[in-house]
Amino acid sequence: MKVMLCTHNSGGVGKTTLAVHLAGYLSEWGEVLLIDCDEQADSWKFFMEKEPEVPVDKGSARGIEVIANPERRSLKKLKVKPNQFDYVIIDIDTVLENTVQVILNADPNLIFVPLNRAHMYKSIDNLASVLEMLERIDGNPALPYSVVIVPLGIDKENIERELESIEYNSGKYLVADSMNDLSSKMDEAVYKDRKYIWDYVDLQDNKNYFEYLAFNASG
Ligand SMILES: Nc1ncnc2c1ncn2[C@@H]1O[C@H](COP(=O)(O)OP(=O)(O)OP(=O)(O)O)[C@@H](O)[C@H]1O
Ligand SMILES: [Mg+2]
Repeated sequence: MKVMLCTHNSGGVGKTTLAVHLAGYLSEWGEVLLIDCDEQADSWKFFMEKEPEVPVDKGSARGIEVIANPERRSLKKLKVKPNQFDYVIIDIDTVLENTVQVILNADPNLIFVPLNRAHMYKSIDNLASVLEMLERIDGNPALPYSVVIVPLGIDKENIERELESIEYNSGKYLVADSMNDLSSKMDEAVYKDRKYIWDYVDLQDNKNYFEYLAFNASG
């Protein structure tokens, strides 16, 4: 079971966008569970098209099991059996303490940290505190994971330059290749049409990007 978390302490940078598209892409390869730990429940609503009922709501759509889990209950408490799924994707809010809790509970293998053009300066500026948090937990050898920074419509070089000046940089952060700049179209896909970006006829090629993220970007 491969567990992937999408996190950043800035809002609107692409956590939900990545989570729903990774879930959609990976559902073609295996059993996928998407856990939405954000009270806003945007990933949940993408699939279920309705508000969740707290404290835990479960459903399934487009071949994906979805759980709304705003209290960030552990996989065990959610009654997810080890290896019940091939892939578990977790979406979360911007509170770093919540991310720490989810990392301790869910033991992810792969952590994606998105940054996008609309919030380029804020998301780059706040990257240091996200990496510091990940670095400090990663100090525990029981919790190994890869961290992949994902530039959405921003030049990869911008991020790499910034990383050089960050104190908490053990050199193990990978910066993925940049995704095409799709800002308003992606917003429409996730929040209006509730469609994967590759389901628009002229944007099918973008599926390759999620294949790359899921299988190649972490080295
Ligand atoms: N390839 C891309 N290029 C440019 N912008 C993008 C790209 N993909 C997504 N975005 C933009 O990034 C924003 C991401 O929104 P999203 O809801 O995924 O962020 P979030 O981090 O989950 O926010 P929140 O903190 O509110 O949960 C959207 O407005 C979208 O248009
Ligand atoms: Mg979100």
